[in-house]
Amino acid sequence: MKELTISVIKADIGGYVGHSASHPALIQRAQEALQGAKDRGTLVDFHVSYCGDDLNLIMTHRLGTDNAEIHQLAWDTFEACTEVARSLHLYGAGQDLLSDAFSGNVRGMGPGVAEMTFVERPSEPVVIFMADKTAAGAWNMPLYRMFVDPFNTAGLVISPSLHDGFNIEVYDVKSAKAIVFNCPAEVYDLLALIGATARYVVKAVYTKKGEIAAVSSTERLSLIAGKYVGKDDPVCIVRSQNQFPAIGEILEPFTMPHVVEGCMRGSFFAPLMPVPLRFAQTSRFDGPPRVVALGFQIADGHLVGPRDLFDDPGFDQARQQCNALMDHLRRHGPFEPHRLPMDEMEYTTLPQVLEKLQGRWVDMK
Ligand code: 13P
Ligand code: 13P
Ligand code: MG
Ligand code: MG
Repeated sequence: MKELTISVIKADIGGYVGHSASHPALIQRAQEALQGAKDRGTLVDFHVSYCGDDLNLIMTHRLGTDNAEIHQLAWDTFEACTEVARSLHLYGAGQDLLSDAFSGNVRGMGPGVAEMTFVERPSEPVVIFMADKTAAGAWNMPLYRMFVDPFNTAGLVISPSLHDGFNIEVYDVKSAKAIVFNCPAEVYDLLALIGATARYVVKAVYTKKGEIAAVSSTERLSLIAGKYVGKDDPVCIVRSQNQFPAIGEILEPFTMPHVVEGCMRGSFFAPLMPVPLRFAQTSRFDGPPRVVALGFQIADGHLVGPRDLFDDPGFDQARQQCNALMDHLRRHGPFEPHRLPMDEMEYTTLPQVLEKLQGRWVDMK
């Protein structure tokens, strides 16, 4: 049985206008580059998409995860798109390409990466989530709800194929360590960590038999660059149906617009708004942060789709709640808890402002 790999590799290589959206010329350039790779037989199939100013390369192939040829293809594609972005003077051209020296793997170089390898089922529905104006920990709560919470996922209770639960892999992105929790038995240990989204990030979910169910991009740009260069704007791949949650169970967590870090200058907490692609552009205050869900059926490695899954009035209420919450948070202006706490602000431009005050501090009376 031939294994298939889905690689979703994304980068912000220039915004139109400002950081708000992607220019069609970049998408077209990326499509040309990936079509070339498909014609050469490197890719089985591809789909180029975007969320806000982030360009998302969705690729299927037979080369496995962390493959040098695929990563090179993604890097070269981003570089080619950066040239187009430069020619149009787009904002932040090449923003997420943090190094000139590509060495066979895009991890740690700026782009976000989510990849999984599996044997394709007779029917293989997958959902690709793409976000803008937020950080890698944004998937923690939704992934928890999809795979661990029986109030969200009916199948955990009533379907024999989900009843065993799932194993959840968590990364500590500050110390570069990984840990796996057997759920539901270890749900409290899991929550002890993943509630702290800036440090602990759900990397992957597996069935108890070891089959991959979901994988996310965990790259934190600020930790890679050591300074603020933009937000992670992460992606996540989730397999659906049968031994995995149904499509509706995978989307249900987004009816509660949970609060994530990101928004204007990557420095604020704001609610994550589930939107169809046509609304995946933040004009207001670089927020509320956006999430798009593209659904595909995979057929012999080919991507049938996408269906724009949040293009559903069923999410109108969540969008309204987002706007109400955003209005309330915005009225806090530069105050916490709208603004991030100081340890997270270290990775923004605020330290440069505080430096100027250095000489003016005197001892308290
Ligand atoms: P399965 O067909 O994957 O068992 O799921 C049922 C379902 O999709 C309910 O929405
Ligand atoms: P991006 O990470 O989407 O480029 O956003 C950067 C920013 O500062 C938005 O205000
Ligand atoms: Mg940008
Ligand atoms: Mg972005």
